[in-house]
Order: sequence, then structure tokens, then C-alpha cells
Amino acid sequence: MATPVLETRDLTIRFGGHVAVDTVSCAFHAGTLTAIVGPNGAGKTTYFNLVSGQLSATSGIVLLGGADITGLGAAGRTKRGIGRAFQITNLFPNLSVVENVRLAVQAKARGASGLFSRWSSHADWIDKAEFYLAEVNLGGVRDTLAAALPHGDKRKLEVAIMMALEPDVFMFDEPTAGMSVDEVPVILDLIHKLKARGDKTILLVEHKMDVVRSLADRIVVLHNGRLVADGEPAEVIASPVVQEAYLGQAPKRAAEASHG
Ligand SMILES: Nc1ncnc2c1ncn2[C@@H]1O[C@H](COP(=O)(O)OP(=O)(O)OP(=O)(O)O)[C@@H](O)[C@H]1O
Ligand SMILES: [Mg+2]
Repeated sequence: MATPVLETRDLTIRFGGHVAVDTVSCAFHAGTLTAIVGPNGAGKTTYFNLVSGQLSATSGIVLLGGADITGLGAAGRTKRGIGRAFQITNLFPNLSVVENVRLAVQAKARGASGLFSRWSSHADWIDKAEFYLAEVNLGGVRDTLAAALPHGDKRKLEVAIMMALEPDVFMFDEPTAGMSVDEVPVILDLIHKLKARGDKTILLVEHKMDVVRSLADRIVVLHNGRLVADGEPAEVIASPVVQEAYLGQAPKRAAEASHG
């Protein structure tokens, strides 16, 4: 089998006595979308932070294309091709929407070796930035200051910035949380499109099981920091560990309601 694009081996982080991510070994391949699910506090976001470099592991390693990147910080990992959306703090609040994306396009062009980086101009960067803005349906607010955007639009802008960096690995942590119902399909369609390209590795943390079902090739379940299930969506959803640890919660509530 091909070398995984991304892999963690025994990845672990402790906060004091609490093991938030506990010896998680998992490999992700190009062209796949893996949903990571689990109850609140399971360690999903912490796992993302360990992969993208926001947090340093207590033990274990992260491999990108087979190379050990455990020692790299977040910026180094971004350069190597790990894209993480929804760090709204990374927006430049006093720059316009299009300028925020233009900076990402330019950073990508500078990082690239070859002719594009030497020959491309400011106008090319703006063209590309506008392309990514259109992808997330933000063309209409291109000149608005990032700070003035409503929350849902800020999250869409983060996605546009991540796309402009053209990563190999896309990490979405509850991408539609806090969005209005009409904004949700824009982001889900975009993830669909990314997946349809067939060459990207997509990791998606998502609580809504209908979204998971419609997008995921595979589901990984975290519970108390540990990987407790990993497989085909239908199989994982049906497994006792998932029914008990996570998905069982909803039917149980329904049952309680019917008794009450
Ligand atoms: N910086 C930190 N310091 C101490 N504890 C932390 C820190 N970050 C996360 N934790 C703890 O680690 C555990 C896992 O948290 P995490 O945010 O990864 O869960 P999650 O699966 O993303 O949950 P949710 O579905 O609610 O987003 C929690 O018990 C949390 O309190
Ligand atoms: Mg989380």
C-alpha cells in the first residue's frame, strides 16, 4: 500500500494527570475523507492540535508523507502541506477579505519553487484570491474588513485562506458550527468538491451524523483520548462501542422521553 499522506503513531498528550490523547495510531491516505467522531471532551480537537502543531506531543510521532514532522511547529507544518481551518485568530482583522486571502496566495507562491513564484504579479494573486472567495461564496464582501464579518463569514474566510495555501491535508473541526442554515451547504458543498478531486486527504471532526454519513469514507472514533473504533461508516456506526460510547445517547434520550 502507498505511504500514508499523514500518520500518527502512539500520539499522546498529557495535561497534568489527564491524558487527553492516548497512544493514538492512525494513518490517512490521499483521496480519502475520514470523519473523527466522539463525545465532548473525547480529544478530537486536541488530536487536531497535535497534528497541525498547535500542541507538542508528550510522546509519539506525526509523519507526513513518511517523514517525521513531530519536531516542527505549526508554521513549519503549514509549509509542508497541513491545512487547518478555523483559527479565526489568524485573520488579519484590519485588512479586507480579499487581502486576507491574497496574503495566503502570495505566501503559497513564495514558498513554491519554480516559475510561477518568479513571474506571478500582484494582479495574479488578487485573481486567485477572488477565485477562492467565490468558492466560499464571499465574493460579495471582498472589500469588507475581516473584523466586520459575521461569525459564519469569518469561518468561510478561514476556509478560503486554507484553500489558497493549497495544502495536501485539509483539517476541518466542526466546520459548520455557529453557521446559519443557509451557510451550512456552502461549506459542505466545498468539502464535497475537495473530496471529489480525489487527491486530497481530508480529516473532518463533526458531531452531526447526517453530515458524517454523507461525506465520510471512514469513521474513526475517539473516546477518553483513545481510538476505540475505525472502519467503514456503516460498520462503525453499528458497532457496540459506538452505540454505547456516543451514538447510543440519542436513542437513549428518545427512549427516556417515551417513558416520561
Ligand atoms: N490546553 C489544555 N489544558 C488542559 N486540558 C485540556 C487542554 N486542551 C484540552 N484539554 C482537555 O482535554 C480533553 C479533550 O478536549 P478536546 O477539546 O480535545 O475534546 P473534543 O473531543 O474536541 O470535544 P468537543 O466535541 O467538545 O469539541 C478535555 O478533557 C479537555 O478539557
Ligand atoms: Mg473539539
